[in-house]
Amino acid sequence: MTVNRLKQAYALIKKNKLNVLIINKLSNVRYLSGFSGSNGLLVLAPPKTYFLTDFRYVVQARKEVKNCQVIIAERDLLSELVKLPCFRKKNKVGFESANTTVKELDQIKELLPKASLIPVENIVESIAVVKDTGEINKLKKAAKITDTVFEEVLGMVKPGVKERDIALEMQYRMIKRGADGPSFDFIVASGQRSSMPHGIASDRKFKKGDLITFDFGCFYNGYPADVTRTVVLGKATARQKKIYAIVLKAQLAAVEAARPGLATRELDKVARDIIIREGYGDNFGHGLGHGLGLDQVHSQPTVSSRSNETLEPGHVITIEPGIYIPNWGGVRIEDDLVITGKGSQNLTKLPKDLIEL
Ligand code: GLY
Ligand code: MN
Ligand code: MN
Repeated sequence: MTVNRLKQAYALIKKNKLNVLIINKLSNVRYLSGFSGSNGLLVLAPPKTYFLTDFRYVVQARKEVKNCQVIIAERDLLSELVKLPCFRKKNKVGFESANTTVKELDQIKELLPKASLIPVENIVESIAVVKDTGEINKLKKAAKITDTVFEEVLGMVKPGVKERDIALEMQYRMIKRGADGPSFDFIVASGQRSSMPHGIASDRKFKKGDLITFDFGCFYNGYPADVTRTVVLGKATARQKKIYAIVLKAQLAAVEAARPGLATRELDKVARDIIIREGYGDNFGHGLGHGLGLDQVHSQPTVSSRSNETLEPGHVITIEPGIYIPNWGGVRIEDDLVITGKGSQNLTKLPKDLIEL
């Protein structure tokens, strides 16, 4: 599996007129090598790839890393680069500019005086954005655990219970069900807090009449789910129902529209136009969605009015419109979709009609 990914990376190295590529973004290291630990570096020097890690990962690297020569570093990983033959001659060496600090770059320059260092972006990401069947199966499993746990905890959402208690309960149950862990800090935003798109679960206690936004998900074998549901604790008011109905209409329209060949900017517009037409355009201040990827809940492609990408089969995206009204509350609904040959498959099976608890 990783051998194909490496082959694609070698082709891009050639296309970018490089000789060598240093990969230091851990999610990219994992994607190309299989290594899931916290300290690893890849040097792609076609037809060879070196994987560098430290003593703590000797056993794990032997087990996980495929198609690479494993090197256990004596010091920090960058210092080890000097020992590799590909750096002893004049070579064009790409490095991941979005993931390399100024300090690291200075260190690399000093260590590799013969290398002509070239900043690159999106090489591994452009391969990883299209998921294969094995990856989609992991995303499905993450989505299933996420759905199941939400349904399990809904009955615990009662007046007097803290937002944080529900967030913790969800995390615990996800891990019990086989997840690696939460895919981000859960948002449980109740009452007026629900107007904060990223209102991390707090000590606030639920009250009757609250709108409550739950945004949650887990990683399964590195692949994330990212789901949002908004509920009302008690009977919904007319205004709560109205705002919910607008967000739902926008969300359903975008889910329906998602298909290969569509510019993600256009997909954003499908949902945004509905919200604008209802007069709440200023209350939907974030993009419609984002890609989901290995070890990353925010990945490519982006789905916003400023995006420049086009959907392809194998892309996995969220669709998450929202309306946020300060001093009142907010509603967001978010599903995870795989783009298929003709349209899309929704991995999130939770119902979307307004739930009154
Ligand atoms: N959970 C963060 C987001 O929906 O993007
Ligand atoms: Mn989310
Ligand atoms: Mn999201």
